[in-house]
Amino acid sequence: SYRKRVPSGTKPMPGPFPLPLIGNLLSLSKNPHLSLTKMSESYGDVLQIQIGTKPVLVLSGLETIRQALLKQGDVFLGRPDLFTFRLIGDGQSLTFSPDSGEVWKARRRLAHNALKTFATAPSFTSNTSLVEEHISKEAEYLVRKFQQLIEEKGEFDPYRYIVVSVANVICAMCFGTRYNHDDQNFLDLVNLTDEFGAAAASGNPADFIPILQYLPNQTMKKFVEVNKKFTSFTQNIVHQHYKTYDKNFVRDITDSLIQHSQEKKMDENSNVQLSDQKIINIVNDLFGAGFDTITTALSWSLMYLVANPKIQEKIQAELDQVIGRERRPKLSDRSQLPYTEAFILEMFRHSSFLPFTIPHCTTTDTVLNGYFIPKGICVMVNQWQVNHDPKLWKDPFKFSPERFLNQDGLSINKNEIEKVLIFGLGKRRCIGEAIGRTEVFLFLTTMLQQLQFSIQDAEKLDMSPLYGLTMKHKRHLFTAKLRFPMMATQ
Ligand code: HEM
Repeated sequence: SYRKRVPSGTKPMPGPFPLPLIGNLLSLSKNPHLSLTKMSESYGDVLQIQIGTKPVLVLSGLETIRQALLKQGDVFLGRPDLFTFRLIGDGQSLTFSPDSGEVWKARRRLAHNALKTFATAPSFTSNTSLVEEHISKEAEYLVRKFQQLIEEKGEFDPYRYIVVSVANVICAMCFGTRYNHDDQNFLDLVNLTDEFGAAAASGNPADFIPILQYLPNQTMKKFVEVNKKFTSFTQNIVHQHYKTYDKNFVRDITDSLIQHSQEKKMDENSNVQLSDQKIINIVNDLFGAGFDTITTALSWSLMYLVANPKIQEKIQAELDQVIGRERRPKLSDRSQLPYTEAFILEMFRHSSFLPFTIPHCTTTDTVLNGYFIPKGICVMVNQWQVNHDPKLWKDPFKFSPERFLNQDGLSINKNEIEKVLIFGLGKRRCIGEAIGRTEVFLFLTTMLQQLQFSIQDAEKLDMSPLYGLTMKHKRHLFTAKLRFPMMATQ
């Protein structure tokens, strides 16, 4: 049954021969993004492996991935029904649940609109957007926190503080609240993401070999706890919102979702009626997706900066020249800071910290590059492979922001941006991309304008990624120097 007959005119997908029961599980190794990249060199852009007893389609190559996710968008927009995904958000997650029909579409549109409304809403006090104001405030707070830590302890683990600041931004949008860096409850919650990412990673054996779901397993046990903590945290806040809800004063995304559910508006485009729960718990998805990704991006950025002090200096020289020291960076400075922008792009590309998109599945039988692909097959999209493809990138393993600059060195080469795959593509593409890019830019520039980062033992810096839904690095202790006397907050 492994190589089923395929319709005439199509070819069966190539791939390694699977072992009984475990399939090709062993060839996935500890770093599936690396082993599947290697496998694609032998079998091509469209290959089939078997994890346990389930077939999985692995897609590589930018053109092939575009063919699938863009040209055949409706065929590839499904999500597989995986054991781990059913444990997320009571199985009702917009992002992870197997629903990809009209209900998912309506929820996705609602989530997208909520983000747009609360991300671009103008600020009351300045001519920037509300979210920009939130980010700048949190970034400033973070710089002060680092400064305080340097004075008190000399060194600090940046990740632990960045995660609180970044989570505060999405908390402000979703719930209208922020938390203190010393709030133990909140710290415990936002530091659960490593456990989440380890279990929700693509290729988790428990998703493919049912017996593993019944055996004692630390990773899965923690995963269940993490999800419980998360939902009870948000449920609590939602409950408070219901009690104080005023339809004439919509405070945040939670309020706007309550408003939507109370008005029971029929969705104009699809005529589906969503349950209250399916509307309100969209906030779980936004909160959950909204801080781990950005924290990881910023944390990798700091790693690359201390590993490459010359690059850090170049960014700071650009900031000094374009912004100076009298005021803080603004989103509108972004187009004047090509080197900084190139650094961020190179951080996304080189780290590829989301090595695969979240798994997809096909909604009908189809043909891709001449290969027959059955309905319902789980699809892994190898973003890491695209970002390190020697056919697309010169010296793919070299960290070099310059690769994104035009020859003049003063502008970004737009064609190169299109080749970086980190937010997915097509109908499941990330809806937080704009906010993500904004936050990475503002946090990074606000920190680098004021602080110069380094670590004690640069030779001992370990940059090897730890595989997961989002790949992390080992934690290191950092130190930092104030670049000029602290100015008064604006
Ligand atoms: C989905 C990346 C930030 C909300 C995704 C996917 C990726 C991704 C790779 C999966 C795409 C697929 O399955 O094909 C990133 C990166 C971020 C980021 C790299 C930051 C640097 C955010 C933020 C939010 C967000 C800030 C919300 C505030 C979502 C949601 C989905 C998603 C809701 C699921 C969409 C769906 O299944 O229809 N993101 N993301 N993301 N992202 Fe992001």
